[in-house]
Amino acid sequence: MTMIDTDARTTDPMVEPATAVETASAATDVEPVFHLRGVRYVYGRRQVALDGIDLDIRPGERVVLLGANGSGKSTLLKLLDGIVSPTSGTMTALGRDIAAVAGGLDAFAFHREVGLVFQDPDIQLFSATVFDDVAFGPLQLGLTQDEVKARVDEALAAMEIAHLADRAPFELSGGEKKRAAIASVLSLRPDVVLLDEPTASLDPRTKWVLVTLIRKLGDQGRTLVTATHELDIVPIIAERVVVIGEERRILADGTPESILADRDLLVRANLIHEHLHEQGRTIHVHPHEVDEHHPHDEATHRHPI
Ligand SMILES: Nc1ncnc2c1ncn2[C@@H]1O[C@H](COP(=O)(O)OP(=O)(O)OP(=O)(O)O)[C@@H](O)[C@H]1O
Ligand SMILES: [Mg+2]
Repeated sequence: MTMIDTDARTTDPMVEPATAVETASAATDVEPVFHLRGVRYVYGRRQVALDGIDLDIRPGERVVLLGANGSGKSTLLKLLDGIVSPTSGTMTALGRDIAAVAGGLDAFAFHREVGLVFQDPDIQLFSATVFDDVAFGPLQLGLTQDEVKARVDEALAAMEIAHLADRAPFELSGGEKKRAAIASVLSLRPDVVLLDEPTASLDPRTKWVLVTLIRKLGDQGRTLVTATHELDIVPIIAERVVVIGEERRILADGTPESILADRDLLVRANLIHEHLHEQGRTIHVHPHEVDEHHPHDEATHRHPI
């Protein structure tokens, strides 16, 4: 794990110089999907959301952005999706200058390759039926009706919600809405999927079903970047964890095992609270196998996440 020193006064021997952001998986010659240097984002004139982000994400990496409320996770995903551009610093996505994408240059082509699933599924679902929402992107591509239907069927199948195709989005449960929102992004067949708090406010079984589906998306070779503050889903969906601290900078970058074992780091990032954290409780870190017939999928056995 690379610890990033955000406080010059620290004497922690674990802390390495602030330039050493690269992880083992990032230290290759492969062109990064996302390349950020010194990225700062300020809302309005004063509200600093990100304050000096150095980050490379390589093709096929499954990354979790882990941070407390307000640490800047959603803002970072909006930057990666080219919805906004940095206030300062340099940033490219798929080799393009993100400021140009955010300004509209080739934005549609970019969004065929990079899709963002918003924190609030109600932003993503606006059509009369789930089918129409999932068909929306492919229809913009000018595909034939048969091609659109094939895309929709594929995306609904990936999220295991074919049975919801004719339902109105507002009639769905929270978990069903999340799956429909992800399907509406998958129907464009993006290589890069950005997920903002996909499991927030889901019950344990629904959460398990969703993380299993997200894991499968990563196993198919996509680049996946998921923002969350829920520690228990991290080892299932990620091989790399980037911790954003409340200083709005990267605090650490490493494997799920090393990050989740570092209690001091998690307290410092406000991901666990020293008074709320149970004595002796360890965080569940072994990687789960994805299995259609995983016993925890059964209604009678709730997985403890
Ligand atoms: N539209 C906005 N206008 C002004 N400030 C904003 C806006 N959106 C976010 N912020 C501020 O930017 C900072 C980072 O917010 P962001 O939503 O990126 O955090 P987050 O890590 O996604 O939080 P959460 O876990 O609560 O979703 C916060 O201080 C927040 O108040
Ligand atoms: Mg957020």
